[in-house]
Amino acid sequence: MSRKKLIAANWKMQKSIGDAKAFADSLVSSVPNVGTCDVVLFPPFFAVPFTAKILEGSGIGVGAQDLFWEKQGAYTGEISGEMINDAAASYVIVGHSERRHVIGESNEIVAKKLKTAVEEGLTPMLCVGEKMSEREEGNAESVVEEQLKTALSGLSQTELKRVIVAYEPVWAIGTGKTATPEDAVAMHRFIRGCLGDDFGSDISGELRILYGGSVKPENAERLLGEEEIDGALVGGASLEVDSFLKIVGAVK
Ligand code: PGA
Repeated sequence: MSRKKLIAANWKMQKSIGDAKAFADSLVSSVPNVGTCDVVLFPPFFAVPFTAKILEGSGIGVGAQDLFWEKQGAYTGEISGEMINDAAASYVIVGHSERRHVIGESNEIVAKKLKTAVEEGLTPMLCVGEKMSEREEGNAESVVEEQLKTALSGLSQTELKRVIVAYEPVWAIGTGKTATPEDAVAMHRFIRGCLGDDFGSDISGELRILYGGSVKPENAERLLGEEEIDGALVGGASLEVDSFLKIVGAVK
């Protein structure tokens, strides 16, 4: 089954509203060059509605970088799925490694967020990935399997079909160290195998598995040329329009 590639920009806690609008404006004018893949931007919360307004009708998607699992109430500082919808965004990142390892989100918290995201009609991008110590101890696959199983087990078949998985080895994020295409492909195959075992071949054939971790114009073509790699979640190299467009252009 052929899966359409997707290139996503995760700006993390970077870019003002003005910077985000300028980026979106310039991306929209480059749309004819964007090619045949899906493109999604994940600005910081405040910039989401402004970015969405500019991208309306362009075919480029917008998402939030996180959400809370409750639908509303006394949760100071949190953002609900409904608020994300209200800001005209349709995607949301769930379980990014910075949330897992800097903020301390457990697999169980990630599972609750994922369930809420699909219930709210959002398209979640579920991030999984091992730390360097876990890889060195030979536990990379078991860590990723546990992250996947805990997050996905509460979803129905219909909900599962909406999920996008992003494999992001923690040691490759923001470090300049990219997994070799061989390592990335091996883990993508492993993830697809887990999806097949747990949820059947429909789900495993359909779900997109992106790679993230120091993707840049110099390595994008090689990574995205792999049939197993259905796109990229790009941090640092997505902050400048030129380098982001080069990565988008690397999808053949
Ligand atoms: P990076 O970040 O491209 O800067 O390594 C990727 C991510 O955290 O999603």
